[in-house]
Amino acid sequence: MKKRIAVLISGSGTNLQAVINAVDAGIINAEIVLVISNKADAYGITRAQNADIETLVLQHTDYNSRLDFDLAMLEQLEQKNVDLVVLAGFMRILSDEFVRHFSGRMLNIHPSLLPKHKGLHTHQRALEAGDTEHGCSVHFVTAQLDDGPVALQAIVPVTATDREQQLQHKVHLREHIAYPKVIAWFCADRLRCIDNKLYLNDELLPANGFKLPFDALD
Ligand code: GRF
Repeated sequence: MKKRIAVLISGSGTNLQAVINAVDAGIINAEIVLVISNKADAYGITRAQNADIETLVLQHTDYNSRLDFDLAMLEQLEQKNVDLVVLAGFMRILSDEFVRHFSGRMLNIHPSLLPKHKGLHTHQRALEAGDTEHGCSVHFVTAQLDDGPVALQAIVPVTATDREQQLQHKVHLREHIAYPKVIAWFCADRLRCIDNKLYLNDELLPANGFKLPFDALD
Protein backbone atom coordinates (compact mmCIF):
# COMPACT_ATOMS: atom_id res chain seq x y z
CA MET A 1 0.00 0.00 0.00
CA LYS A 2 1.16 3.48 -0.85
CA LYS A 3 2.23 5.51 2.18
CA ARG A 4 0.75 8.94 2.80
CA ILE A 5 3.37 11.63 3.27
CA ALA A 6 3.08 15.19 4.55
CA VAL A 7 5.96 17.64 4.08
CA LEU A 8 6.52 20.61 6.40
CA ILE A 9 8.46 23.56 5.00
CA SER A 10 9.34 27.17 5.72
CA GLY A 11 11.31 28.20 2.65
CA SER A 12 12.57 27.46 -0.82
CA GLY A 13 11.70 23.78 -0.74
CA THR A 14 14.43 22.27 -2.88
CA ASN A 15 14.30 19.14 -0.73
CA LEU A 16 10.52 19.07 -1.17
CA GLN A 17 11.15 19.25 -4.93
CA ALA A 18 13.55 16.31 -4.72
CA VAL A 19 10.89 14.29 -2.90
CA ILE A 20 8.19 15.28 -5.41
CA ASN A 21 10.50 14.19 -8.26
CA ALA A 22 11.25 10.86 -6.59
CA VAL A 23 7.54 10.19 -6.03
CA ASP A 24 6.79 11.08 -9.66
CA ALA A 25 9.58 8.78 -10.83
CA GLY A 26 8.17 5.90 -8.77
CA ILE A 27 11.30 5.77 -6.59
CA ILE A 28 9.24 6.58 -3.51
CA ASN A 29 6.11 4.49 -3.25
CA ALA A 30 3.91 7.17 -1.70
CA GLU A 31 1.54 10.02 -2.23
CA ILE A 32 2.31 13.49 -0.88
CA VAL A 33 -1.07 14.30 0.60
CA LEU A 34 -0.27 17.68 2.14
CA VAL A 35 2.43 20.35 2.25
CA ILE A 36 2.26 22.69 5.24
CA SER A 37 4.22 25.91 5.45
CA ASN A 38 4.43 28.26 8.42
CA LYS A 39 5.43 31.04 6.02
CA ALA A 40 2.96 32.39 3.46
CA ASP A 41 5.72 33.39 1.02
CA ALA A 42 7.64 30.10 1.06
CA TYR A 43 8.51 29.19 -2.52
CA GLY A 44 7.99 25.54 -1.65
CA ILE A 45 4.24 26.29 -1.66
CA THR A 46 4.48 27.17 -5.36
CA ARG A 47 6.47 24.00 -6.02
CA ALA A 48 3.74 21.92 -4.38
CA GLN A 49 0.95 23.73 -6.26
CA ASN A 50 2.80 23.16 -9.54
CA ALA A 51 2.74 19.45 -8.72
CA ASP A 52 -1.00 19.54 -7.84
CA ILE A 53 -0.34 18.82 -4.19
CA GLU A 54 -2.66 20.21 -1.53
CA THR A 55 -1.07 23.01 0.45
CA LEU A 56 -1.83 24.75 3.70
CA VAL A 57 -0.29 27.84 5.25
CA LEU A 58 -0.48 27.87 9.03
CA GLN A 59 1.29 30.90 10.42
CA HIS A 60 2.66 30.27 13.88
CA THR A 61 2.22 33.98 14.61
CA ASP A 62 -1.57 33.40 14.56
CA TYR A 63 -1.38 31.10 17.60
CA ASN A 64 -0.98 31.89 21.28
CA SER A 65 1.61 29.25 22.01
CA ARG A 66 3.92 26.74 20.36
CA LEU A 67 1.64 23.97 21.54
CA ASP A 68 -1.50 25.56 20.05
CA PHE A 69 0.25 25.88 16.70
CA ASP A 70 1.54 22.31 16.84
CA LEU A 71 -1.90 20.97 17.76
CA ALA A 72 -3.42 22.78 14.79
CA MET A 73 -0.87 21.10 12.50
CA LEU A 74 -1.40 17.77 14.19
CA GLU A 75 -5.13 17.97 13.57
CA GLN A 76 -4.58 18.65 9.87
CA LEU A 77 -2.10 15.81 9.58
CA GLU A 78 -4.42 13.40 11.36
CA GLN A 79 -7.29 14.37 9.06
CA LYS A 80 -5.06 13.32 6.19
CA ASN A 81 -4.09 10.04 7.84
CA VAL A 82 -0.40 10.58 7.24
CA ASP A 83 2.03 7.71 7.66
CA LEU A 84 5.15 9.86 7.54
CA VAL A 85 5.92 13.50 8.33
CA VAL A 86 8.90 14.89 6.42
CA LEU A 87 10.54 18.05 7.78
CA ALA A 88 12.19 19.81 4.85
CA GLY A 89 13.62 23.11 6.01
CA PHE A 90 10.85 23.62 8.56
CA MET A 91 12.32 26.32 10.78
CA ARG A 92 10.30 25.77 13.95
CA ILE A 93 11.14 23.82 17.05
CA LEU A 94 8.38 21.29 17.62
CA SER A 95 6.77 20.62 21.00
CA ASP A 96 7.37 17.34 22.81
CA GLU A 97 3.68 16.51 22.31
CA PHE A 98 3.94 16.79 18.53
CA VAL A 99 7.22 14.88 18.40
CA ARG A 100 5.89 12.07 20.61
CA HIS A 101 2.75 11.78 18.48
CA PHE A 102 4.81 11.12 15.35
CA SER A 103 7.56 9.13 17.06
CA GLY A 104 9.16 6.70 14.60
CA ARG A 105 7.36 8.31 11.66
CA MET A 106 8.87 11.77 11.37
CA LEU A 107 12.12 12.48 9.51
CA ASN A 108 14.38 15.53 9.30
CA ILE A 109 17.42 16.42 7.23
CA HIS A 110 20.19 18.35 8.91
CA PRO A 111 23.13 19.92 7.04
CA SER A 112 25.99 18.38 9.03
CA LEU A 113 27.42 15.01 9.93
CA LEU A 114 25.61 14.61 13.24
CA PRO A 115 26.39 14.62 16.12
CA LYS A 116 28.70 17.38 14.85
CA HIS A 117 27.27 20.87 14.39
CA LYS A 118 23.72 20.68 15.67
CA GLY A 119 21.68 23.86 15.20
CA LEU A 120 22.35 26.67 12.71
CA HIS A 121 25.31 27.90 10.58
CA THR A 122 26.64 24.38 10.16
CA HIS A 123 28.75 25.05 7.06
CA GLN A 124 30.62 27.96 8.59
CA ARG A 125 31.16 25.97 11.77
CA ALA A 126 32.53 22.99 9.82
CA LEU A 127 35.01 25.33 8.10
CA GLU A 128 36.02 26.98 11.36
CA ALA A 129 36.54 23.57 12.98
CA GLY A 130 38.87 22.59 10.12
CA ASP A 131 36.72 19.55 9.28
CA THR A 132 37.97 17.65 6.25
CA GLU A 133 34.59 15.99 5.80
CA HIS A 134 31.16 17.57 6.05
CA GLY A 135 27.74 16.56 4.75
CA CYS A 136 24.17 15.96 5.81
CA SER A 137 22.27 13.55 8.03
CA VAL A 138 18.75 12.18 7.65
CA HIS A 139 17.38 11.27 11.05
CA PHE A 140 14.21 10.42 12.90
CA VAL A 141 12.99 13.27 15.06
CA THR A 142 13.10 13.04 18.84
CA ALA A 143 12.45 15.65 21.52
CA GLN A 144 16.12 16.77 21.56
CA LEU A 145 17.02 19.11 18.69
CA ASP A 146 18.95 17.40 15.86
CA ASP A 147 19.50 14.38 18.06
CA GLY A 148 17.33 11.49 16.83
CA PRO A 149 18.70 8.24 15.39
CA VAL A 150 20.46 8.80 12.06
CA ALA A 151 19.43 6.67 9.08
CA LEU A 152 21.92 7.98 6.53
CA GLN A 153 24.79 10.40 6.19
CA ALA A 154 26.00 11.75 2.86
CA ILE A 155 29.65 12.74 2.97
CA VAL A 156 31.05 15.84 1.27
CA PRO A 157 34.83 16.40 1.25
CA VAL A 158 35.91 19.89 2.34
CA THR A 159 38.58 21.37 0.08
CA ALA A 160 41.08 24.12 0.95
CA THR A 161 39.30 26.64 -1.28
CA ASP A 162 35.79 26.01 0.06
CA ARG A 163 33.95 28.98 1.50
CA GLU A 164 30.62 28.81 3.30
CA GLN A 165 28.48 29.23 0.18
CA GLN A 166 30.31 26.63 -1.89
CA LEU A 167 30.19 24.14 0.90
CA GLN A 168 26.49 24.80 1.45
CA HIS A 169 25.86 24.25 -2.26
CA LYS A 170 27.76 20.95 -2.32
CA VAL A 171 25.87 19.70 0.75
CA HIS A 172 22.52 20.83 -0.65
CA LEU A 173 23.09 18.76 -3.81
CA ARG A 174 23.77 15.70 -1.68
CA GLU A 175 20.66 16.37 0.42
CA HIS A 176 18.56 15.95 -2.70
CA ILE A 177 19.90 12.41 -3.12
CA ALA A 178 20.03 11.46 0.55
CA TYR A 179 16.52 12.49 1.61
CA PRO A 180 14.50 10.71 -1.12
CA LYS A 181 16.61 7.61 -0.57
CA VAL A 182 15.68 7.35 3.12
CA ILE A 183 12.03 8.23 2.46
CA ALA A 184 11.93 5.48 -0.17
CA TRP A 185 13.28 2.97 2.37
CA PHE A 186 10.67 3.99 4.89
CA CYS A 187 7.82 3.83 2.39
CA ALA A 188 8.92 0.37 1.24
CA ASP A 189 8.84 -0.80 4.90
CA ARG A 190 12.58 -1.41 4.72
CA LEU A 191 13.49 1.11 7.43
CA ARG A 192 12.10 0.85 10.93
CA CYS A 193 12.73 2.80 14.11
CA ILE A 194 12.27 0.63 17.19
CA ASP A 195 13.24 1.92 20.68
CA ASN A 196 15.39 4.61 19.05
CA LYS A 197 17.34 2.02 17.06
CA LEU A 198 17.15 1.81 13.28
CA TYR A 199 16.84 -1.31 11.22
CA LEU A 200 17.34 -1.39 7.47
CA ASN A 201 16.12 -4.61 5.87
CA ASP A 202 15.85 -5.99 9.44
CA GLU A 203 19.55 -5.33 10.12
CA LEU A 204 20.65 -2.89 12.80
CA LEU A 205 22.18 0.23 11.25
CA PRO A 206 25.44 1.58 12.72
CA ALA A 207 25.11 4.45 15.21
CA ASN A 208 25.55 7.21 12.62
CA GLY A 209 23.59 5.47 9.91
CA PHE A 210 24.30 4.24 6.41
CA LYS A 211 27.20 6.16 4.79
CA LEU A 212 26.54 7.50 1.30
CA PRO A 213 29.90 8.05 -0.42
CA PHE A 214 30.45 11.31 -2.31
CA ASP A 215 30.53 9.54 -5.67
CA ALA A 216 27.21 7.68 -5.19
CA LEU A 217 24.74 8.89 -7.80
CA ASP A 218 21.58 7.61 -6.11
C1 GRF B 1 18.38 22.38 4.07
O1 GRF B 1 19.70 22.84 4.09
C2 GRF B 1 18.15 21.36 5.15
O2 GRF B 1 19.30 20.64 5.46
C3 GRF B 1 17.75 22.20 6.31
O3 GRF B 1 17.00 23.25 5.76
C4 GRF B 1 17.40 23.48 4.41
C5 GRF B 1 16.17 23.44 3.56
O4 GRF B 1 16.43 23.77 2.23
N1 GRF B 1 17.03 21.41 7.28
P1 GRF B 1 15.29 23.66 1.12
O5 GRF B 1 14.16 24.60 1.55
O6 GRF B 1 14.85 22.25 1.04
O7 GRF B 1 15.95 24.15 -0.12
